[in-house]
Amino acid sequence: MTRSDTGAAAGARAERPRILTGDTPTGRLHLGHWVGSVKRRVELQSTHECYFILANYHAFTTRVDQSAEIRADTIEIVRDYLAMGIDPEKATIFLQSEIPAIHELCFLFAMLLPFNRVMRNPTLKDEIKVKGLGDNYSFGFPLYAVGQTSDILTFRPVGVPVGEDQVPHLELTREVARRFNQVFCGVPTDIEDDDHVKHGGVFPIPRADVGKVGRLVGTDGVNKMSKSLGNAVFISDTTKEVEKKIMKIFTGRQSPTEPGDVNNALFQWVDAFFPDAARVAELKDRYARGDNIGDGHVKKELAEQVNALLEPMRKRRAELEGSDDLVLEVLKKGCARANETAERTLEMARKAAGLHFFPRRLSY
Ligand code: TRP
Repeated sequence: MTRSDTGAAAGARAERPRILTGDTPTGRLHLGHWVGSVKRRVELQSTHECYFILANYHAFTTRVDQSAEIRADTIEIVRDYLAMGIDPEKATIFLQSEIPAIHELCFLFAMLLPFNRVMRNPTLKDEIKVKGLGDNYSFGFPLYAVGQTSDILTFRPVGVPVGEDQVPHLELTREVARRFNQVFCGVPTDIEDDDHVKHGGVFPIPRADVGKVGRLVGTDGVNKMSKSLGNAVFISDTTKEVEKKIMKIFTGRQSPTEPGDVNNALFQWVDAFFPDAARVAELKDRYARGDNIGDGHVKKELAEQVNALLEPMRKRRAELEGSDDLVLEVLKKGCARANETAERTLEMARKAAGLHFFPRRLSY
């Protein structure tokens, strides 16, 4: 425990509405992550009590033979979080694998969901198709969807900021929370979602908060930015790498005097990264009229803006490279804090389900 955990910072965190969100560690973060989620998290940490989970167990669903890489990816993602401005004094960053309550509650939650209901989850179905899993996926693969309900409910948040693709997981989570409250806490079935706790339910029914921006097109100008498609600009890229990648953004426009489409991939980037709305309007006006303004010119200005955004992130990241110690220290504090909340929920849930035999304390 640091002093701030027992003092004013912890107090301030606790009075705010609680949210939880997170990532499965799959590699370094890129600008798509910044635009789609991390930028918003940096804002939310000043107004909400924030929990950010690294779902490292979930990474094993499709990479069980890559435990060393998963561990390395998990450390890297924390470096990126911290570089991008997530402040571990304000927000709680923690590892799924360090929170026993999540996994105990998962077992109980799995009993509240019909097997076929889990398998109807469209995000699961999609992943089976996209990743070509056929019918060879492990038992643990669909179990991760139940696990995600537990990642969330263990922290009893009111909101979960996520992208559109995660909404089916939130629907499942809300169903589990309602069922738990009905089966174990005697909440009547006709009670509104917002009144469950008032009627004795352990779990608030959490909302999915789907962000407006959500999606950044990659440098190929077509697909959503993604590491595996090779169309990503990473937070850790050098100034030169950023310039080179941005110069490649594909628009198909032929000449500076051709009237251009201001909704093309290049201008989606301009919209995402230029802080000055007047400059954006001016560029769009000239581009649309083909007023002697080439893609190359717009890209050069864009690269400057992106590099201005990334520069302080690169600096912070550089301070964290070379050793894992700083990152591990942040995670250890986060896990200790997360376990305090998680153990409280577990105790309430065990009591409700008649599983409260012997009190116990987790210690680090
Ligand atoms: N499934 C999420 C993703 O792939 C990551 C995740 C795991 C998550 N547990 C969560 C997101 C709980 C929000 C809340 O991005």
